[in-house]
Amino acid sequence: MGGAVPELPMTADGFESRARELLDARAFAYVAGSASSERTAAANLAAFERFRLVPRMLRGTSGPGTRDTAVEVLGTKLAAPVLTAPVGVLELLHEKGEVVVAGVAKELGVGSVLSTASSSTVEEVGAVAGDWWYQLYWPADDELARSFVQRAERAGARAIVVTVDTPSLGWRPRDLELAHLPFLLGKGIANYLSDPVFRAKLPAPPEESEDAMRMAILTWVGLFGNHTLRPADLAKLRDWTDLPIAVKGVLHPDDARLVVDAGADGILVSNHGGRQIDNSIAALDALGPIVAAVGDRADVLFDSGIRTGSDILTALALGAKAVCYGRPWAYALGIAGAPGVRHALRLLLADFDSAMGLSGCADLAGVTRDLLAVPR
Ligand code: FNR
Repeated sequence: MGGAVPELPMTADGFESRARELLDARAFAYVAGSASSERTAAANLAAFERFRLVPRMLRGTSGPGTRDTAVEVLGTKLAAPVLTAPVGVLELLHEKGEVVVAGVAKELGVGSVLSTASSSTVEEVGAVAGDWWYQLYWPADDELARSFVQRAERAGARAIVVTVDTPSLGWRPRDLELAHLPFLLGKGIANYLSDPVFRAKLPAPPEESEDAMRMAILTWVGLFGNHTLRPADLAKLRDWTDLPIAVKGVLHPDDARLVVDAGADGILVSNHGGRQIDNSIAALDALGPIVAAVGDRADVLFDSGIRTGSDILTALALGAKAVCYGRPWAYALGIAGAPGVRHALRLLLADFDSAMGLSGCADLAGVTRDLLAVPR
């Protein structure tokens, strides 16, 4: 693992504080920041205080590292129920951020979800990634949406994750600081700049001049989000690709039911780490009701607040099949590149393995609702 690893923090909080010290203040603000009062982000973490584990003893489970954490989710087989969450604009943290993360995820047998807002193209990531999914920010142009999805499928993506909580970016005060906006603008648009449908909309190739690049950025601003999407639009996606489809950012059980009725194979219960609507419910509070609403008609995944192995256990006990891990590995990427991401993911996986053993779970089938006390 290299000499740098012992120097790295041992907790998610540790990654955050080290990143605060070491990273460019604007890059740190981009990762750490959430919407408005940042109450949603705080609620995500606090919710785990209310769902306490009641571990079982004397179950004769096997020792560390031998427990069976394998899972199949949306048709993808993973060694552990963990994927790296789609995190955009990684060039703020590392020149080859998406490629690094996808490579480390593959090495450790976990999944990775590539953001539409990536700083590397789907083709670059597909060349190194193992079991990866493509996250779609559905643009305000169906031709472009189709092109993104079909490029991802050709590049080897195993599922499409449509993020529906971001028809436009949330109100994020830390990014709105005057010095931050120019720093962020024009980043994370590699998939647009390399897309034939996008390029056909431009008066000149963005490589040619600063003016052409400015036009490309303006075109991106106009196309980024889509406020008109309805559940029925999933039928278009079904036409464009054979891959399983998950919908990310659902918090209401009725919305979950609607998208499953409309053909989604999976739901990713998430509030975007509190970066979209402020003062919303904690994502963890939405999980149980959504699992109850969709039953076994769809695979339910969870993110927004996963920091430890017990957090994963809690989400699984509430009915999630797998979780996405977000900010901590992003900090680790910024601090230490590939060894940092490897360290962050290995810590989480080892902590999860330990939590399984200490709560009497030999495999994921043993992680059930009765592992949790009734919430206070
Ligand atoms: C995100 N998230 C996100 N989601 C998405 O669908 N597409 C994206 O491009 C991004 N970009 C992004 C950037 C940064 C810096 C963060 C922190 C988050 C949301 C992400 O996938 C996930 O939902 C959250 O990270 C979960 O919250 P925690 O656990 O990281 O706090």
